[in-house]
Amino acid sequence: MNNFNFYAPTYFSFGKDAETKTGSLVKRFGGSRVLIHYGGGSVVRSGLFERVKASLEKEAITYVELGGVKPNPRSGLVYEGISLCRKEKIDFVLAVGGGSTIDSAKAIAAGTLYDGDFWDFYEGRPVAEALPIGTVLTIAAAGSEGSPDSVITKEDGMIKRGASGEAYRPKFSVLNPALTQTLPPYQTACGITDIIAHLYERYLTNTKNVETTDRMIEALMLAMINEAPKVIENPDDYDARANIMWAGMMAHNNSCGVGRTQDWTSHKLEHELSALYDCAHGAGLAVVMPAVFRYTMKHDITRFAKAAVRVWGCGMDFEHPERTAAAGIEALRRFLISIGMPKNFSELGAKEEDIEKLAHTCCFGGAGANGTISGFTALTQKDVEEIYRLML
Ligand code: NZQ
Ligand code: ZN
Repeated sequence: MNNFNFYAPTYFSFGKDAETKTGSLVKRFGGSRVLIHYGGGSVVRSGLFERVKASLEKEAITYVELGGVKPNPRSGLVYEGISLCRKEKIDFVLAVGGGSTIDSAKAIAAGTLYDGDFWDFYEGRPVAEALPIGTVLTIAAAGSEGSPDSVITKEDGMIKRGASGEAYRPKFSVLNPALTQTLPPYQTACGITDIIAHLYERYLTNTKNVETTDRMIEALMLAMINEAPKVIENPDDYDARANIMWAGMMAHNNSCGVGRTQDWTSHKLEHELSALYDCAHGAGLAVVMPAVFRYTMKHDITRFAKAAVRVWGCGMDFEHPERTAAAGIEALRRFLISIGMPKNFSELGAKEEDIEKLAHTCCFGGAGANGTISGFTALTQKDVEEIYRLML
């Protein structure tokens, strides 16, 4: 195991009616003038928005509102939020919604305190400071409620990039699984796929002797395989929702990723797809992951075979371990299809003629350096093109 430092000081309030504590949590973490940031209206329709505002009012906390965050959140609204925060002298940013809303809130929180263009953070400048951030989560997926990351799409060129920094870790996150019961099955499945991807991206490591984190990842994957069909069948299953919600946080706050190299190849390829076609991140990952894994499997057959046996219940073929490894990838693919995810480029709305462009942006744009993306294994533009072709 590699050396590491781990500090993930987000306060979680988990369970039924947890959102009624939002006001007291904002107060506890020093907020008195709040920007409430939200998305396209699901939180208004569900009544959550009113409950959150009532909770702030109970603590005599003043607020201004900024809605309209789109999935794959855009830079335009971030600039608007930054101006609003400065004008209104906001001292706390509260995101009520999913990963997109939280990521937009994080960008606003950092941009407000920064003299330059907030996009600098998405081109590699470390996020040194940000207004304190709190979240009320409505979808188990991106893990932004416990992560130091944010992903924003710049309209000019539709470039999707991530930024990271400890200042991006929320001070608190309110997790009420009942709030996810209003999700359409497709969005629920997208979230589950993203959680599984966050686990795989950490599982695919070149670091030896990381059995503790391997086992944690395997346990979370097994829980997802067990709980996902329950919520697809019955969206109101509170207990299954609760298990998935906590898994989503655990999968991405890096408790399972410490002390080991990580992959992130699937995310890099997916971000190009959601930037160009505006597809849901999880749906993109469902198409990307099996292709990436089939292509990179030869790099470490044993690791893929281990996942196949321990997670997907495949029998070990000691003479042909590559068959076991491939069976595990196929089991993942079938599972994702079974929960309603797309299985190829056309179901995602992606086009064969864009492959070269997608691979080029991936390898030379933001994620790649000098034409190579590296993680579990190093890939050139040619490799990435071949992987995209596997998705046709
Ligand atoms: O906008 P509203 O009306 O709220 O509707 C949303 C949106 O249409 C809807 N929704 C959310 N909660 C709901 C609900 N509808 C009914 N009931 C509810 N309870 O679901 C749709 C998707 O929401 P979004 O916030 O986009 O989903 P998600 O949490 O999957 O976030 C995706 C974004 O996160 C980024 C992705 O790239 C993508 O841009 N990621 C962020 C990460 C991070 N910050 O750590 C890591 C991830 O790997 C990921 O890249
Ligand atoms: Zn993700």
